[in-house]
Amino acid sequence: MQAVPVTDSIHWVGAIDWNLRDFHGFETPRGSTYNAYLVTGEDRIALVDTVKVPFVPELLARVASVVPLDRIDYIVVNHVEPDHNGGLRLVMEACPNAKVVASAGGLRGVAEYHGSDLQLEAVGPDDSLDLGGLTLRFLPMPMVHWPDSMFTYCPERSCLMPNDAFGQHIASASRFADEVGLDFAIEELITYYANILMPLGTQVAKAVEKVVDAGWVCKTIAPSHGVIWRERDIPTLLETYGRCTSGDTFDKLVIAYGTMWGSTDILAREIADGAIEAGVEVRLFDLAVTPYAYVTRHVFDARALLIGSPTLHHGMLHRPAGYLQYLAGLKPRDKVVGAFGSYGWSSGATKQIGARFEEMGLEAPLGDFTCKYAPARDELAAAREWGRSFGELVVEHGSL
Ligand code: FEO
Repeated sequence: MQAVPVTDSIHWVGAIDWNLRDFHGFETPRGSTYNAYLVTGEDRIALVDTVKVPFVPELLARVASVVPLDRIDYIVVNHVEPDHNGGLRLVMEACPNAKVVASAGGLRGVAEYHGSDLQLEAVGPDDSLDLGGLTLRFLPMPMVHWPDSMFTYCPERSCLMPNDAFGQHIASASRFADEVGLDFAIEELITYYANILMPLGTQVAKAVEKVVDAGWVCKTIAPSHGVIWRERDIPTLLETYGRCTSGDTFDKLVIAYGTMWGSTDILAREIADGAIEAGVEVRLFDLAVTPYAYVTRHVFDARALLIGSPTLHHGMLHRPAGYLQYLAGLKPRDKVVGAFGSYGWSSGATKQIGARFEEMGLEAPLGDFTCKYAPARDELAAAREWGRSFGELVVEHGSL
């Protein structure tokens, strides 16, 4: 296991989780990485973040490929979540001369996760660590995306280490965005943002402002997941994050549904055709075969969402129900919604979906669309018309 140079005196020493497929419910078909960075000053050495417990040996081997472990002076904890610092105690045991550095909230989290016997030092915006020829500076970034979150910056190398911000779930042998392809990296960045940071746009936008206000020039942005952004790609990165934080949406409709004997599937396709005729971009997903995270990436920049389910035991199927639970936590805003589905002898599913939307504060201007058993010819025409009306609503109300 070797370290990878990021810039002069800063190495990537993290771990690649090739087989990660579920990140607390966020499906990750491309795996992920837990990035940690070794900053080697002339006098002192800092390790910025650690890794998930099973990957500690990989991290330590990469660190040891640069310096002996007893040379580490500081372990900077940008964020206590266990993907980055679950392995902190094991790393501290392997690095006997190290002290933990974190935001005030981070130190409380470290003590609560790992016990209060570790050597700890709180840092804030007025503090810096002098490593000899290199400096580390810090900005607390509460709720980007935990209360303890912090950005670390090395001014001599114009290198920002913002933890989860600017991250993506990509496992790759390549460490830089330009090496995996910028378009691919940006798409994964948006998917990550939608599934982790969607409810926190205000805080994320403030975080970017704080970096600018602090005068932190960034020629390298080295997040804690996925690939690292080099200078030439940073304008595209920031432009994308600007769109993400402002919540820009398009004339786009997501139709996500479950189906039992195919009737709700048939309705979904007719509704989609109607909306397409109205000029809307449509994405249609059967929730039995599509990961929630992929659906959410498209819900994020869509102006409208339809959820479909047949009725089973007086309610909706578990997949649409599960998806609504997943989505509710992400607090989608500025979308019109609707419910549709087939039923046998009671139409409880669409009522449940409508109630869930109401709890989420989302408006359903056209109510719901239901049909009994399999849709008849006139019901198919009505579904298509309902879809067209919904599509026209989306197009007419460009800024819902
Ligand atoms: Fe990647 Fe919030 O941990």
